[in-house]
Amino acid sequence: MFTTLLTVLENGIYIITINRPDKLNALSKNVFTDLNIALDEINSNAEIKSVIITGAGPKAFVAGADISEFNALSKDQSMSLAKRGQDTFARIENSSKPIVAAVNGFALGGGCELAMSCHFRVASENAKFGQPEVNLGLIPGYGGTQRLVQLIGKGKAMELLMSAHLIDAAEAKQLGLINYVTTAETLLEHTKKILDIINSKAPLAVAGCIKAANAVFDETKEGYAVEIEQFGNAFATEDMKEGTTAFLEKRKAVFTGK
Ligand code: COA
Repeated sequence: MFTTLLTVLENGIYIITINRPDKLNALSKNVFTDLNIALDEINSNAEIKSVIITGAGPKAFVAGADISEFNALSKDQSMSLAKRGQDTFARIENSSKPIVAAVNGFALGGGCELAMSCHFRVASENAKFGQPEVNLGLIPGYGGTQRLVQLIGKGKAMELLMSAHLIDAAEAKQLGLINYVTTAETLLEHTKKILDIINSKAPLAVAGCIKAANAVFDETKEGYAVEIEQFGNAFATEDMKEGTTAFLEKRKAVFTGK
């Protein structure tokens, strides 16, 4: 059914593993297609009570959007890309069934944005979070500028967005970005235990909690449109071409401000 995801349903918990470990589970077009199919399944399958999203391999949850798909995009195409990412992550955020990120390594760029779109996050000690898009001459495009501010506050979010600084699991917990830090070995078990408790509650009440808590941030919807526009603007720059090319060529980017 999927080309980029592994899925299993255990005791009412649907575990989605993004399965491109050789590319650190980067979010390609195919991953988005698969995630949307998985979201349809979550909606329609009554046996699914709640969901865990995690990444394959010991190193990464998701190391970002797939940079190799960026280089040839026009400004309009890049804005559609951001819109598709935002729409998919909005489906996760607004899912009536709980969706929790089990972050097992790098959660960078689109990976951090994916984790932030989940209802909450549990991470292993080796997790690293950040929005390093400015290294590529880019800005986050899948909701990162909005949700990072919502989750950790404007000051720290501004610093992380502008500096591309990565934070470890302990700092992420201190900032409220994640709820628990576990060992790599106990990450899934710990996350499942929390969901076992949630799954024992009234599903409609749980769905009501999600809807009501999300409503707090409704007034910021306009910010997502601003993010798409700025993402498109970044795509039209020479620095973006230099940043993404330098990454793929494994060299340091030389930015010119154009
Ligand atoms: N998009 C596409 N490919 C990616 C990727 C991404 N976001 N992140 C990692 N990869 C690929 C690498 O190109 C490499 O592929 P290759 O083996 O075919 O050359 C493979 O995954 C392993 O990554 P590598 O960089 O060799 O691992 P590392 O341990 O040296 O570094 C990171 C790990 C996470 C620090 C580094 O991969 C990185 O900086 N990734 C990009 C993070 C980013 O900018 N994300 C935001 C994107 S908008």
